[in-house]
Amino acid sequence: MLKYDVVIVGGGGAGMRAALEASRDPNLKVVVLSKTFPTRSHTGAAQGGINAALGFGNSNDSTELHFRDTVKGSDFLGDQDAIEFFASNAPEAIIELDKLGVPFSRNEQGRIAQRPFGGASSPRTCYSADKTGHVILHTLYEQCLKNGVDFLNEWFLLELVVEDNQFQGLIAMDIRSGEIHAIQAKSVVIATGGFGRIYWNRTTNAFNMTGDGTACCFDVGIPLKDPEFVQFHPTGLASTGVLMSEACRGEGGYLLNKDGERFMSRYAPEKMELGPRDLVSRSIETEIKEGRGFGQGINSYVQLDLRHLGEKKIMERLPQIRQLAIEFESLDPITDPIPIRPSCHYMMGGVHISDFATCSTPIEGIHAAGEAACVSIHGGNRLGGNSLADIIVFGKFAGLGVREKAKDRGFGSKERLEKAAAKWIDKFDAMRNKTEGQSVIAIRDKMAETMWYNLGIFRKEDEMIKGLEMINHLIEQYEDCKIGDASKIYNTAFINYIEIGNLLKLAKAVAMGAIARKESRGSHSRADYTQRDDKNFLKHTMITKQDNEYKLDYLPVRITKYQPEERRY
Ligand code: FUM
Repeated sequence: MLKYDVVIVGGGGAGMRAALEASRDPNLKVVVLSKTFPTRSHTGAAQGGINAALGFGNSNDSTELHFRDTVKGSDFLGDQDAIEFFASNAPEAIIELDKLGVPFSRNEQGRIAQRPFGGASSPRTCYSADKTGHVILHTLYEQCLKNGVDFLNEWFLLELVVEDNQFQGLIAMDIRSGEIHAIQAKSVVIATGGFGRIYWNRTTNAFNMTGDGTACCFDVGIPLKDPEFVQFHPTGLASTGVLMSEACRGEGGYLLNKDGERFMSRYAPEKMELGPRDLVSRSIETEIKEGRGFGQGINSYVQLDLRHLGEKKIMERLPQIRQLAIEFESLDPITDPIPIRPSCHYMMGGVHISDFATCSTPIEGIHAAGEAACVSIHGGNRLGGNSLADIIVFGKFAGLGVREKAKDRGFGSKERLEKAAAKWIDKFDAMRNKTEGQSVIAIRDKMAETMWYNLGIFRKEDEMIKGLEMINHLIEQYEDCKIGDASKIYNTAFINYIEIGNLLKLAKAVAMGAIARKESRGSHSRADYTQRDDKNFLKHTMITKQDNEYKLDYLPVRITKYQPEERRY
C-alpha cells in the first residue's frame, strides 16, 4: 500500500504552494496527486494578476485598504479576521514568489508592475503580462521538484476515508492503468479547485473543474459553506465562455452596447468598467434584457473594445487575449471589438474551513485551500486578482498546517482503507460491464441547462424550485447510468461518470442555499428579494450531508471592523 506523511490532492497553485511548504521538513514524505499534469491545471487560466498591497502602483496603497476593499467587495459576507490575515500576508507571499523565480512584469523603476482591477481602490494587481497564473504554476512545479515532492500525475481522487472523525487515508485511481489504490496518509490538503462545470459550457472553467475534492469532503460530513455564491465573470467570449481577462478593462478596455454606448456609466458612474464583477455582470445582462445587446437569445452579447489601446499596448500587456480572440472568435482585438457575455467563473463557497491559519476542516487531518475551500475571504463576491492571492497565501498556510498535523498523527487503519478500495474496484468493474442505463452525457447537459436558466445570474423562487426538482430527478437518473466503455486502461468515461456525480451533488447544494437565502447579496441576485437583508441573512449558509439527506444551517459572519453599509461604486 502506498504510504505518505502528507498528500496534497490537486496540482494547481494552491496544491503546489502547500506541497512546497510541507516539503520544507525533509523528514516528511510529501506527494501531489493530480488529475491533470500540474502545469496544465486551471490556475493557468487566471490571466490578469494577483493582488497584494505592495504600493508600487500607488504609494498610498496599504494592506488596510486591501482589507477594506475585500470586505466591501464581499458584500460584507466575508469573515473580517480572515480577510485581514489574508491582506496582511499577501505582500510577503508575492515577494516569496518573486524570489522563487516568477517572472513578474516590471514598471519603469524595475519594481513588480501593478495594474488596476475591479473593486480595488488602487492599482494593486501584480502581473506577468496576461499569463500570471501560468507562470506561477511553472515556477511552483520547478520548486516542488527541487524540494523532492513526489507527483502522482493523472491520478483521480475517489474517496477520503474517515473513521471517528479522523482522516485515515484516501482511495484514488491511476487513470493510465485503471488500477485503484489505497493510500495511507497522516494528513491531506484538498486543493482541487472549483466546480464551475455545473454550468458545463457557460463557464470560463476548464473541463476538469468538477469539484472532486469538495464533493469527497461533503461525503464525509464536512459542511459546504455558501455554495449559492457563484461568480459570473463579466467577460467570457460569447461563443465559448473562454475568459477575456479583467486585465482588458484594467488596461482601459471599454464595454459597449449596440448603440456604441459605454453603458457602465448607468450602473457604476465612478468605477465604470472597473466595478466589481457581480455588478458588471448584472449590468451586461440588463443591457441584453432591455434590448441594447447584439444577437438573439443564448447568442446575445455586448462588446469589449480594446482598439483604442493600440497595437503596442495590446501586444505587450494582453498578448494571450489577442491570441484567444483570434483562435476562438476569428477576430483581432487590435482592429475589432470582441463579443462577450458573462460566464460562470468562480465558486465563492466551498469546503468549510474552521481555522484559517492552518486551513483545517472539522475532520482531524483534512485541510483545504484555494477555490475548493471557503475560508471565507470572498463572501458574496470575489474581487478579481484575489483568487491567485488566495491560493498563494492560504496554500502556504495549509502547507504549514498539514506539515505540523503530520508530525502529531500516526497512519490510519490499513484494513479500513483496503475495504474501501475493494468497494471501488467492484464499482469500476460493475460500471465497465453495464450495458443498459441512462446516458451520463444527457444528464450532464440537462444539469447545465437547468443551472444556467434556473440558477444563473438573476434568480427567482419558482424557477429555482423547479431547478432543484430537476437536479433531484437527475440524481435519481444518475443512479441508473451506463458509461459505455468497458476498457480498464485510460477509461475516461468512468472518470466523467464520477465527475458528473460530484457535480450533481454540488449543484443540489447551490440550489438549496440559493432558495433559502431570501435576499440579494453579492453574486446572489433575486428578482423577488431585491435588497440585502442583514437582519436575517448576514450569515454563512452551511449545508451538510447526513446519510443521503442534505441539512441546511447557518453560521454567523465574523465582523471585526467594518460594519455593513450600502456598496457604491
Ligand atoms: O480576469 C482575470 O484575469 C481573472 C482573474 C481572477 O479571476 O482573479
